[in-house]
Amino acid sequence: MTDKVEIFDTTLRDGEQVPGCKLNTKQKLKIAARLDELGVDVIEAGFPVSSPGDFTSVQEISKIVKNSAVCGLTRAVKKDIEVAAEALKFATKPRIHTGIGTSDSHIKYKFKASREEILERAATAVEYAKTFADDVEFYAEDAGRTGNEFLAKVCTEAVKAGATVLNIPDTTGYCLPEEYGKKIKYLKDNVVGIENVIISCHCHNDLGLATANAIAGITNGARQIECTINGIGERAGNTALEEVVMILKQHPYLNLNTNINPKLLYDTSLMVSREMGMFVQPNKAIVGANAFAHSSGIHQDGVIKNRETYEIIDPADVGVTESAIVLTARSGRAALAYKAKKMGYNLTKLELDIVYHEFLNFADAKKEVADHDIHTIMDIYRKNNRA
Ligand code: KIV
Ligand code: ZN
Repeated sequence: MTDKVEIFDTTLRDGEQVPGCKLNTKQKLKIAARLDELGVDVIEAGFPVSSPGDFTSVQEISKIVKNSAVCGLTRAVKKDIEVAAEALKFATKPRIHTGIGTSDSHIKYKFKASREEILERAATAVEYAKTFADDVEFYAEDAGRTGNEFLAKVCTEAVKAGATVLNIPDTTGYCLPEEYGKKIKYLKDNVVGIENVIISCHCHNDLGLATANAIAGITNGARQIECTINGIGERAGNTALEEVVMILKQHPYLNLNTNINPKLLYDTSLMVSREMGMFVQPNKAIVGANAFAHSSGIHQDGVIKNRETYEIIDPADVGVTESAIVLTARSGRAALAYKAKKMGYNLTKLELDIVYHEFLNFADAKKEVADHDIHTIMDIYRKNNRA
C-alpha cells in the first residue's frame, strides 16, 4: 500500500515574494495552467487582500484551473478572509489558508499579545473561514521556533474550529531535519483530533535544509508538502517541488507517492525561470543545466559504458532529453570518441590517438571544447593526413 503525499505549490504566492520577480496576471495564468497539468494537488494562487492585482489573479486562476484545488492566503483577519473567499468564488475546489504567528518572538513583537489571545484569534479565524469554504488550512507561522507544547495547543484549537489541514511552517528555515521531524511526530501524538486532518510541511531554505526538512516531516507522518518550482521564495527560498517529487520517486521503499507527472518538471522549471526572469543555478538538483552533465574523464567513461554508474535518475524521466558529456582537458579518449561518433565521425583507434592529441591542445586553450571545435579539430586532422 502506498500513501499519497499532497503537493501544494506556492510558486505564485511565496515564490512570487522573491525580490524583483513580479508576475502579471497573464503570466500567472500561464503558470497556473501548467501546474494544473503537472498534477499539483493545490495551487496557492496568491494573497488576495494584498493588492487588487493579486485579487484579480486569484479570481482568474480560480476560473481556469480544472483539477487542482485553488488556495488564497489570509492573515487571521476577517477582512482578509472575506476578500479571499470572494476571490475564490469561481474555484471548483476552493481552499482558504489562514493563520497567525505562534513563536514567542512573533507573539511579543508582531502581535504584542499573549498566548491566550493567539489561541483565540487562531480559532476565530478558522471558524470564520469555515463559513465560506469547507476546506480551510491553518498555518502556525514560525512553527519551527515555536515550543511543541504550545504549538500543539494552537493546532488543537484550529482543528476544533474546523481546520482540514495544519500547516507547520519553518518560516525562518531554522530547524534541523531531526528536530523538524520530531515536531511533526509530537503533533501527531498530541493534537486532539489529528486523525481527521492532514499535516503540511512548509519549509524555508535559510540553512539549505528546506528539502531535507520537508522529507523529515513526511517520514514522520505529514502528508502534504508546500513547495515551489525551482525552490524560489522569500530569502533563500522554499522547498523545491522537483526535489521532493523525485526523492519520493527514487526511494520507492518509502511507499509514498505523488500525483506529479515528472516528465513535465524540466519544462516547467524553464517556464517559471523565463517568466520570472530568475535564472536557475547550473548545479541545481534535478533541473539545473549541470544536473545531468558529466565533465571528468572517469565519470564520462563510466556513463558512456552505463548511465547508472554516475546517474541515479534517468534524465528522460524529468523531461531532459539526454545526459550531457562536456568535453574538457579532463576528458579521456572514450568521451571524445563518443562525442565525435554522435557528430558523424567514426574514428579508428589510430585516428583517435592522433585527434586526441589535437583535442588536448584545444582543451588547454579553452575551458570547454564545443561541437564546432570538434569539427575544426577534424578538419585539421584531415588536412594533415591527406594522402
Ligand atoms: O513561511 C511561512 O510561514 C508562510 C506562511 C504565511 C504560510 O509562508
Ligand atoms: Zn513561507
